[in-house]
Amino acid sequence: MSIREQIGKIVANTVPKGTAIDVRPAEEHQNAHYATTIAFSLAKTEKKNPREVAARIAEETKKKAPKGFFEKVEIAGPGFVNFTLSQKTLRKEFGAMAASKSNWYKPHPKKKPVIVIDYSHPNIAKPMSIAHIRSTIIGQALYNIFAFSGWKVIGDNHLGDWGKQFGILIAAFKMSGLKNENELSIDELMKLYVDYTAKMKEDPKLGDRAREEVRKLQNGDEENMRIWKVFYKVSLNEFEKIYKILGVTFDYYLGESFYNNELPEVVQNALRKGVAKESDGAIVIFTHEGKTPFIIQKSDGSYLYSTTDLAAIGYRVKKFKANLVMYVVDNGQSFYFEQLFKAAEMLKLAPKTNLVHVKFGLFLAEDMKKFSTRAGRYVSLEQLIEEAIARARKIVEGKNQGLSEEEKEKIARAVGVGALKYNDLSQNRLSNITFNWDKMLNLEGNSAPYLQYTYARFASILRKAEAGKFDAAFLAEPIEEKLIMDLFEFPQVVEEITRSYYPNHLSDYLYALAKDANYFYQTLPVLRANEKVRAARLALLSVAADVLRKGLELLGIEVVERM
Ligand code: ARG
Repeated sequence: MSIREQIGKIVANTVPKGTAIDVRPAEEHQNAHYATTIAFSLAKTEKKNPREVAARIAEETKKKAPKGFFEKVEIAGPGFVNFTLSQKTLRKEFGAMAASKSNWYKPHPKKKPVIVIDYSHPNIAKPMSIAHIRSTIIGQALYNIFAFSGWKVIGDNHLGDWGKQFGILIAAFKMSGLKNENELSIDELMKLYVDYTAKMKEDPKLGDRAREEVRKLQNGDEENMRIWKVFYKVSLNEFEKIYKILGVTFDYYLGESFYNNELPEVVQNALRKGVAKESDGAIVIFTHEGKTPFIIQKSDGSYLYSTTDLAAIGYRVKKFKANLVMYVVDNGQSFYFEQLFKAAEMLKLAPKTNLVHVKFGLFLAEDMKKFSTRAGRYVSLEQLIEEAIARARKIVEGKNQGLSEEEKEKIARAVGVGALKYNDLSQNRLSNITFNWDKMLNLEGNSAPYLQYTYARFASILRKAEAGKFDAAFLAEPIEEKLIMDLFEFPQVVEEITRSYYPNHLSDYLYALAKDANYFYQTLPVLRANEKVRAARLALLSVAADVLRKGLELLGIEVVERM
């Protein structure tokens, strides 16, 4: 049990059963380690003064706590209860943490809950856009955090591999006079697509032709299926290059096409249950009164994104026994997901499964404008990653620490890719994020390189002097105590993200931790301290380094041992 949980348990004995107890780290000025606001809500139900209730809780807590657990329990302000741990508790807990480091209080649920994370999901036969990077990065971080927290995690790349772009591509290919689809490169595919779409604007017949090709494909036409398979492969190869550089992996690639055969049944089932109705020739579900209905089959008989998503929910519930299905998709699709979840509820597709849309804002260029394919503003993901690595390389060169070319390359990759990811993960996912190279690569600021550099510096000290046996009684400076308290928060911060789905809470935490750890190291002698103190400080440094490493790893960011 983490310390917060231990305190919570003691406090629980002093209040009516079932009261929600929230123990948080105290604010700096509070002069305590932890605090709770529980007296305020209790005072309301008991119609008493919060200070009076807080005083009662403080008194009772003191009595119920194991002997010597707290140094003091006090009431403060209008009704806070403040807790200060005893030195004995601090030492004991820190000793335990030093033994297991970042695995300290790592949860191991016996019956692992199952989460399916639907992330990245680019549209095949189109370049992976900068917008998909957010889903990929946030999705992977959540994946790691849930896995670390003892969940069974299934990463599913729900590729857009079935829609109208294939109609366009197949039509364009057939009309191009090219004979062998196997010889097309990704660039040629893109060109076919772009040229056809441009012409389509002037000639509506080309649009009809493209729709006709999709219809044939969806009905299993052999030639179109064959062409589709080749295009699918060429394009997936491109994506996999990017995933490889980003260090992203999936357990499944169950794209839209995977559900093709189930779509008629999805519609029939919805009709049988009386949930779907015919409207102007289309089959729709009225999910939200007064708003456009959720269309699951068009009047020409074709199926949509929505039909596939309903099929996918059924599959994820039945096949994966998912307790939670998470869709990491931009907030432009918010209403779509509200409709999807409502439709699933009306159809009773996932009565015991929690469906959530983990949304995020836009990714804007430095001038706050949208990155786009039009007007020369298009930047491909690959170009962006290459540039990040090149810029990181300059920083590494600047440090010039006699590293081999190979090492430099490795570090540049970790730093460049790390900077890109951290830029995304350190901002609240709901806001539009901007993108500024100097900020992203700033060695002094809230950036991946700063954290990676902090880690590398500690790693280098620990190479010189290994941490071993120590006595925590020698960690008595306030700076040390602050750092220990920071470290105690790690399991709590990670666990909280499995409920809030905000990875930036972890990056905020790591940044604060790195600042405190650097301050500790700059202020107090470590290697030059006397033997007992040195051993204790090395232990503190090694736990801090390990938590930094693990925290970054959960965000999908690699650390390097030298920088
Ligand atoms: N391919 C879609 C897009 O780029 C995103 C898919 C999201 N996942 C889902 N199950 N709908 O817009």
